[in-house]
Amino acid sequence: MSVQPLRIGVIGAGTVGREVVRALLDRSPRLQPADGAPLVLAGVAVRNVERAIAAGVPEELLTDAPAHLVASDEIDVLVELAGGDEPARTLIAAALGTGKAVVTANKHVVAHHGAELERIAREAESPLRFEAAVAGGVPVLGPLALDLAANRVARVRGIVNGTTNYMLTAMAREGREYADVLEDAQARGYAEADPTADVEGLDAVNKLVILARLVFGHWLAPEAIGNRPGTTRGEAGSPGITGVTADDVAALAAEGRTIRLLATARLAEDGAIEASVVPTALPGGSAFGRCDGVLNRIEVDAAPVGRVAFEGPGAGGAATSSAVLGDLVAVARGQGSTWAGLPAATARSRIEVRPVAGECVAAPSGACYPVGD
Ligand code: HSE
Repeated sequence: MSVQPLRIGVIGAGTVGREVVRALLDRSPRLQPADGAPLVLAGVAVRNVERAIAAGVPEELLTDAPAHLVASDEIDVLVELAGGDEPARTLIAAALGTGKAVVTANKHVVAHHGAELERIAREAESPLRFEAAVAGGVPVLGPLALDLAANRVARVRGIVNGTTNYMLTAMAREGREYADVLEDAQARGYAEADPTADVEGLDAVNKLVILARLVFGHWLAPEAIGNRPGTTRGEAGSPGITGVTADDVAALAAEGRTIRLLATARLAEDGAIEASVVPTALPGGSAFGRCDGVLNRIEVDAAPVGRVAFEGPGAGGAATSSAVLGDLVAVARGQGSTWAGLPAATARSRIEVRPVAGECVAAPSGACYPVGD
């Protein structure tokens, strides 16, 4: 018996989109699961059609109107790789509402509109998959929702932004300021088009919201998660890594510490969730301290399993396309949404979110970096 092919419409042919399109054009038969539908590229929506034709995308697949892919009866799965808030949110919601499966790498939309999108997906019974939204090519959401589903998670921590990790690594190795190494990170395709979200920790906040949804069952409000370390004077410091200086990096290195932008969410005894994304002073020899460059690392402390770690390439087109394509294979196998069999999320208004408490270490800039292990 032949299985109906899964017709895929891709929105966006940027860093990740062009890798996904290329894979679907070049090796679609190899992506077909033995127990699922063939994957067929049926449409690609881009801003600049001429440029996409020049890059080798067949003209007959191209459109500059993403809404046409959403409305088309000849598309079964929407792959949203355009990023940003709107129109991505509306396109994803509309596709889910009309029964299409959606695969996205859009951590902003998933983190900010996850509760609404989950509700629509559940009501319409349309799969919504977003493995690529956290830690690029590192499979972490799938294992959290499936293989670790029998656990009670106490804490999830991670280096989840490749750009800032690349920059902090370069600052430590070469003694350069973060502004000097940012351009380099952008040239390598790690940074967002607007790198503010990377360097201010907002991209990592979005990823922490998504991780927290899977391990704690709530969609946290991104704006409730602090992204500023304290200062020695007691006030909030600069957002993300923007206040980290080469002097801070060197002074902490002299004490055997490494600064990493660490995203942490843990369950407090009173049921609140403590969550922060701040540059953190970690032992240089620790697993997080040794997690260099564009690598991401996520550790989950859970019972009964203990500590489980995930590490690998967290950004860039090739790595992120791996997660998108994996999600397409999952859709082809009828595996449902990324949250798999987890219960529906509870409303964010019912959860108290407060910063992660703990000691900090003073640095020359006046920042006081939380101490991690
Ligand atoms: N700018 C992001 C990062 C891309 O550096 O991690 C992957 O989400």
